[in-house]
Amino acid sequence: VTDPIPARPIPLAARAPGKCVLFGEHAVVHGKPELVLAIDLYTQVALRPGPELRLNGNPEVARSHRYLSRAMADLWAGGDPLDVVAVSRIPRASGLGSSAAFVAALAAGLGAARGGRDRPALAQACFTIEREAQGVGSPGDTSAAVAGGYIGLNSAASSSGEKLWEVAAGTERWTVHRVPDPGWVWVVAYTGVPKDTGTTVRAVRERLRRPDGPALLERFAETAEAGIRAVLSEDRDEVGRLLMANHELLRDLGVSHPRLEALLEAARPAALGSKLTGAGAGGSVVALPRPQMEIDLVRRLARAGGVPYAVRPAPAGAELV
Ligand code: MEV
Repeated sequence: VTDPIPARPIPLAARAPGKCVLFGEHAVVHGKPELVLAIDLYTQVALRPGPELRLNGNPEVARSHRYLSRAMADLWAGGDPLDVVAVSRIPRASGLGSSAAFVAALAAGLGAARGGRDRPALAQACFTIEREAQGVGSPGDTSAAVAGGYIGLNSAASSSGEKLWEVAAGTERWTVHRVPDPGWVWVVAYTGVPKDTGTTVRAVRERLRRPDGPALLERFAETAEAGIRAVLSEDRDEVGRLLMANHELLRDLGVSHPRLEALLEAARPAALGSKLTGAGAGGSVVALPRPQMEIDLVRRLARAGGVPYAVRPAPAGAELV
């Protein structure tokens, strides 16, 4: 994971994984712990010289694409125009990290073309681009796309693992550690309802101004820390129970949605636990299958109208292909 992105001339291609949040989304924006899993659904970005900046052949789309524009301004100043082609298996605006994966694959490719890049610098660059494009948020998604596997942010429980990097925005700072892979298959499912992370994060900030806000954030922190400890001790039943507890807190924050609740209900007989994942208000769910019930869980989620994927950890983060 700590291998740098090597130098490579254009034309080149790079890819980076999507993610699901297992514990602590939203609270992580306010400095609390989070556990994120990079999943084996990827976005791949190819870069070649072009007559002008284009995204999938289209100059207008390239100009209006916030993440591409920010990345080019931050990482390609003075560079020759590029033809950028992106393909992805991650549904867009699904809560499964499609924008972070796009940014990480693109930044890895541009970094390779500019002589190579170490991962801590890449993680910071990707977070800065996402923050500039989105206005709000934490480095959880972009760090997962750069690191691969399981990562813990701002977590005492995960600090026994390898420290990967620290990432900052202004005076805010998040510390990222590696969490060892317990070797489980997870199931995620997209509701088909696109979400807007910026809008949801801002609504949560308002919700947290109520008198019970600080106590609610503390409960998020305790649940995430307990969840990370349960993953470290490979206690599936406890992880399942804590996923449900985390979902209750997210419901209390006001970010669930009837389509999310319908998928969680459908998952219950085949899952040890499940919750919404990512910003919520649409987007996706994540579920930990009961042993040997992965396929049954996938079927249940599909029958309930979701778009399910059985996923494993992406072993590597952003990489050249
Ligand atoms: C989105 O995947 C997770 C949120 O906590 C936002 C963020 O951390 O940037 C909702």
